[in-house]
Amino acid sequence: MTVNSLPNLDAYWMPFTANRQFKQAPRLLARAEGMYYWTDSGRKVLDGVAGLWCVNAGHARSKIVQAIQAQAAEMDYAPPFQMGHSKAFELADRVTQLTPAGLNRVFFTNSGSEAVDTALKIALAYQRVRGQASRTRLIGRERGYHGVNFGGISVGGMVANRKMFGTLMAGVDHIRHTHDPARNAFSVGQPAHGAELADDLERLVALHDASTIAAVIVEPVAGSTGVLVPPQGYLQRLREICDRHGILLIFDEVITGFGRTGQPFAAQTFGVTPDIMTTAKGITNGCAPMGAVFVKQEIHDAFMNGPEHLIELFHGYTYSAHPLACAAGLGTLDTYADEGLLTRASELQDHFAALVHSLRDAPNVIDIRNIGLVGGIELAPRPGEPGKRAFDVFLDCYDKGVLIRTTGDTIALSPPLIIERTQIEQIVDTLRGAISRVA
Ligand SMILES: Cc1ncc(COP(=O)(O)O)c(C=O)c1O
Repeated sequence: MTVNSLPNLDAYWMPFTANRQFKQAPRLLARAEGMYYWTDSGRKVLDGVAGLWCVNAGHARSKIVQAIQAQAAEMDYAPPFQMGHSKAFELADRVTQLTPAGLNRVFFTNSGSEAVDTALKIALAYQRVRGQASRTRLIGRERGYHGVNFGGISVGGMVANRKMFGTLMAGVDHIRHTHDPARNAFSVGQPAHGAELADDLERLVALHDASTIAAVIVEPVAGSTGVLVPPQGYLQRLREICDRHGILLIFDEVITGFGRTGQPFAAQTFGVTPDIMTTAKGITNGCAPMGAVFVKQEIHDAFMNGPEHLIELFHGYTYSAHPLACAAGLGTLDTYADEGLLTRASELQDHFAALVHSLRDAPNVIDIRNIGLVGGIELAPRPGEPGKRAFDVFLDCYDKGVLIRTTGDTIALSPPLIIERTQIEQIVDTLRGAISRVA
């Protein structure tokens, strides 16, 4: 389809999009393969963001495509309540071989937002089944992003995602975020300063008492708020405080899962194991909607009591472990394994870091952050127009054939893990030009 035969754009209310701006100058993608998209007018665009942090193995991978096609022909749907199908068990078995030690039970959802709300519910229910029913409070972190459902925005800490939606969940509090440009600007990898920010959890324990707190949820690397890499020692300290007070630690690995930071999961990259871990996106390479919540076996086992004919957890979705998503997940894990993709970011990260940090001298760049194959380039906002400078850079890059993402005035890069070194160079060169042109 060419731009001359655009569909009517009115009816579709687009998510997280400046609808009016988009509809004046639509950016329509029509095809994808490997590292590239092609627009509806046939223009080739290098994917610098793995779609939306999800297409980790690149686009249109044959094993995934074939798995989905074969599954659609064989069995389109199977009810997940009181029934099963073998690919759900196979995927659960295989994916739990990649997760950090002990996180060997998995509950399937259809998105990261659902994974987060599922994790929060499991945390609350677990405290109850283990006899700690007073632990009803959930703790998130300022600037956190945990999807868009009510649980997720309640523990989340991005004001625009919260302020329109009433009073949110009761009984939620937040620890401080870790962004500290005064001490950490232009850190390569994990910033040196800020481990002590984890002690903010002690402040909330002192305020509320540990006996009222069920769980703390954080992203190991905060993505949507603008790429905040955890300070050295911070996650370890958070783990210690949780252990001291019997508080569950939840890592939201929706973007960090499946190879983004150089290991299959960020928990492994940073050497800190949570009690519960949420994932989505890369589990199916973005090819079918799916999320997954991994829990320690003792959490799962705590529910396995009472009469055996009774449902143990009153939670689940019509499309939990959907056959097409499970097939996509299995094809994805095959592709990751065949090509060593879940650790490829660790091979590329030094090259990636050097190039991304080479933008330090470009106009208006006030900070650069990176880990694995994630980069954040923060620009000074134009006075009175927050977000506009970075958005203009996004438009300029797209025009020049590179897809990036912006959040506020931070440019986020998270390319597919199959990226070649020359393609990293292309992304950074295009960005440099765009940042200079936009000024
Ligand atoms: C850390 C984190 N959690 C949750 C989500 C929500 O995932 P979804 O958009 O699949 O609901 C995202 C999405 O980017 C995310 O980055």
